[in-house]
This record gives sequence, C-alpha cells and structure tokens, in this order.
Amino acid sequence: MNGDIIVMGGGIIGLSCALELRRRGLNVTLVEKGPCGGQASGAAAGMLAPYSENVESPDEFFRLCRESLSLYPQWQQAVKDISGVSFEYAETGSLYVARHEADLLALESRLEWQRSWGSGGEILTGSALFAAEPGLTRKAVAALRTPVESHVYAPDLAEAVKRACLASGVRIHEHLGRIELAEWRERVALRAQSGERFEADRLLISTGAWVQEMSETLGIRIPVYPIRGQICAYAWNEEREPLRHLVFTSQGYLVQKANGTLVCGASEDIAGFDTSVTDKGIRRLTEWNKQVLPVLGEVQPFHRWAGLRPAVLDGRPLIGRLDHAGHILVAAGHYRNGILLSPITAALIADSVEGKPLPEWCGAFRPNRFGGVQAGAFS
Ligand code: GLY
Repeated sequence: MNGDIIVMGGGIIGLSCALELRRRGLNVTLVEKGPCGGQASGAAAGMLAPYSENVESPDEFFRLCRESLSLYPQWQQAVKDISGVSFEYAETGSLYVARHEADLLALESRLEWQRSWGSGGEILTGSALFAAEPGLTRKAVAALRTPVESHVYAPDLAEAVKRACLASGVRIHEHLGRIELAEWRERVALRAQSGERFEADRLLISTGAWVQEMSETLGIRIPVYPIRGQICAYAWNEEREPLRHLVFTSQGYLVQKANGTLVCGASEDIAGFDTSVTDKGIRRLTEWNKQVLPVLGEVQPFHRWAGLRPAVLDGRPLIGRLDHAGHILVAAGHYRNGILLSPITAALIADSVEGKPLPEWCGAFRPNRFGGVQAGAFS
C-alpha cells in the first residue's frame, strides 16, 4: 500500500497500529507528546481476559475482545521476531472466584454462554479448586476456570512493539510536548510545541484519554473520559508457591509475573487526569487481596502506581475512519482492555486504511456515533 500516515499517540494502540500499517507498506510517522508507553500502557497489568472482564453477555465489545485474544499468539510472536526483544506472555488460564453460595448461579449462567463462545470453561469446587490454586482462601465456594485466558508483561510489550516499529522503519518522534492539528480537511499537518511540523496524507488519532481534546477541531462529540486505576505489587518470596492462574473476583484481580512480583488491581476512580496514588485506594485493594489469598495478610505491597483508562460513554472503543473525513481515523477509548485489544485494533485500522469494509458488527465502534458538537451535525 502506498502513501503516508501520521499516528498521533505512542501508547500500545498507537504503536501496534503503526507497526501493522508499516507491515502493510505505508510510510508511518508516530508522534508522541511524552515517552511512548508512558501512560495507561505502561501501567497496565496486561490481562488478556475477555471472558473474565465481560461477565454480562456476548455483545459486540465482547466479540472484539475475544477475536483479539485469538490473534495474540501470532501477534506477540511477530512482535518478538521483528523486534528481537523478548517479553513475558503466559498462557496460565484464569479463575473467577465466588466467595458466597449466592454467586454460584451467576457463575453457572456465565459458564453456559461463554462455553458456546469457546471459553472451554469449567466450574471447580472443593478439593479440585484448591488443587488447582493451593493458596486460595478456603472460604472460596467455587471458581469458573477459563483455560484460554492469559497475560503479558505490558511495559515490556510496549517497549518491544516500539522496537519492532523502529526495526520496520516507522519514524518515531517522542517528547514533543503539546501537539496541535493545524490542518486536516485535505492533507494533514500537525504542529508540536517543540516547534516541529509533520505532514501526511492521513492521520490516525490514538491519544487514549486525551482524544477528547480533538472534539472541537474535528466537529464531533468524543465522549472519552479518564478513569484512574490504582494498582499495587507485592514482592513474592521465592519459597512461596507462585499463583498459577490469573485470579479474578468481583472486586479485583491478582496476577503473578515472571519477574517475581504479584500484581493486584485495580481501582476505578474518577479523578480527572490525576495519576497520584491514594492510601484509601490501595488499602481497598490490600484489604480485599488478603481475603482472596490469605498469605497477603502478612505482607505489604512494595510498589504502588496508577494509570488512566480511557473510558467511552457507551463502554465501547472508537475504531475506524471518520464519516466526514475518511483520511482521518481514530483508535482510542479501549478502557480496561487496551493491551488485549491492540492486535485486533491494528488489523481493523490497517484494513480501513486499505479501503476494506469492516465487518458489520464493527459499526458499534464508529467514531462518529455520538454525532456532531452541534446537534444533528455528522450524526
Ligand atoms: N484490565 C485491567 C484493568 O483495567 O485494571
């Protein structure tokens, strides 16, 4: 494919799209106001868990997540091969734990619809449950085991995708400060606070929670808001048996990383663009964690951090071309699932740029779906 494109935003979504667009033959320039992977992507726990994170019903969003999970084995291998950088990708499966008999019915109904969507799930109780995950509280009454769920070490993945981009010939410009869209109606021109100017035929906007800043300029409503996720990690004593699965409850999750840490997340706070960590937020996690893994009652987290998830008003990401400006594309608003959704987003964006129609069900992610900033425009 000929032509050039600027990717605005160097999180996992922007980087993955840049890599895929380059693989399809475009000249790609990626611009980032700070460091690549410096926001939600670097803060993420790296859960690849569409079944555990979508407990209600198999809607379009679940379908997107599930299709992306199916791309992961090949995608992560391609990133490793192109970049020459290794990172953790662990196909551990997950346990969604119920602590009360009353929650069993909900697990059973999820098991039913999720099995028909390839989860391979089963409900474990009693000795089978504690054999599968020995450190789990004996107050657990059951868990839904989903063997196809996995996780990656997100900061390393982001760095590897960046290296793969560079190795493939993507030009990456970081630390540019504020970047403004100077022209967009025909050709695209961006002006950075650093003084640099970038021009191209097309633009992909993948600026995460900051995408809403483009609303006025582009004339469309972009209702994307930052939701802070506070997260913590425990140093895992080598004598303790590592956690074998991703462990979810209705209150959070625990995931053992190969670097010896146990990562526990995450709050959902409305705090604007503030990424500070609060004692209250972390205490909520630590109090809950020890009810799931009693050994955590004896230790305190050694590391605490926060990231901003980009949440869209209707809970679905924005993926695709603008209806009123087909050379401008958006890939943003992936909320809790940016790491998981990076391969499918990259594929859909590259298909759109190549002029291929997206599957009908992907209409749920149209960036124009909230209409124009003036009532009735572009809706
Ligand atoms: N996907 C995990 C989180 O957003 O906390």
